[in-house]
Amino acid sequence: MDRYLVFGHPVRHSKSPFIHTLFARQTQQELEYGLAEPAVDEFAQALRTFFDQGGKGCNVTVPFKEQAFTLVDCLSPRAKRAGAVNTIKLTDDGVLLGDNTDGAGLVADLKSHGVTLADSRILLLGAGGAARGALAPLLAELPSELVIANRTHTKAQLLAAEFHDLGPVTSQTYEQLAGPFDLVINSTSASLQGALPPLAPALIHTDIAIYDMMYGASDTAFISWAKQHGARQTMDGLGMLVEQAAEAFTVWRGIRPGTKQVLRELKRNLGVI
Ligand code: ATR
Repeated sequence: MDRYLVFGHPVRHSKSPFIHTLFARQTQQELEYGLAEPAVDEFAQALRTFFDQGGKGCNVTVPFKEQAFTLVDCLSPRAKRAGAVNTIKLTDDGVLLGDNTDGAGLVADLKSHGVTLADSRILLLGAGGAARGALAPLLAELPSELVIANRTHTKAQLLAAEFHDLGPVTSQTYEQLAGPFDLVINSTSASLQGALPPLAPALIHTDIAIYDMMYGASDTAFISWAKQHGARQTMDGLGMLVEQAAEAFTVWRGIRPGTKQVLRELKRNLGVI
């Protein structure tokens, strides 16, 4: 049977095996999907061993995405732009192809929630790996402006400069930000610590869409905060997780699974509904 897995550390709580097993059942593909948690300095060896032993493809998550970028034989254009790899496929020619489906997953999830990206004014919080992965797919949707704000402003400046050729992307400090924005995407890891990015409450209004790439069984700190300040449309990263997985599954198997039912089952599994 074709073997796939996700590499991460820690990875025990990953939902990827659950999601891909449902995709496989739904599309009647014979495959198994597991977990691997190599020590941080043993990822390269573990990756090699997996493919030497017949593995067909894998996902890569924190903290290995940047390392995976350097270990594959070739890169998709979107992985090259993201500077990180979350999906690897062994091609029929024996080549390890590195791809990145995170940004496509974000955009697919935003669209499935009815969020309009064309001509919109987007605020992206954070300038780490998650922000980098999102930029090219977001700019491809032709927003009127995309502003990056980050605690360490120089990182936002560098990122804006790097993606400037793809669209109207600029950087501002949190203090400089001037609304109104149509959509705020939180790509920071602040919610992991229950912390908030230092965003002025005045930027939140009733018609704004709020997206937190993080998710949990209950509202993330950022989503709770945005709701308190009047946001009516809030979305967490669970849909993005399922959509990036669907994109990876499509890369591997050449067949696109449906995501709605799988997202529902995942929510049930997490105790969200
Ligand atoms: P990831 O790969 O998940 O993006 P990362 O590359 O470590 O992780 O980036 C984390 C991002 O969250 C950074 O933009 C970080 O801001 P700094 O560049 O200033 O470190 C941001 N971040 C983390 N904790 C934060 C907090 N409490 N408030 C605001 N931003 C925070």
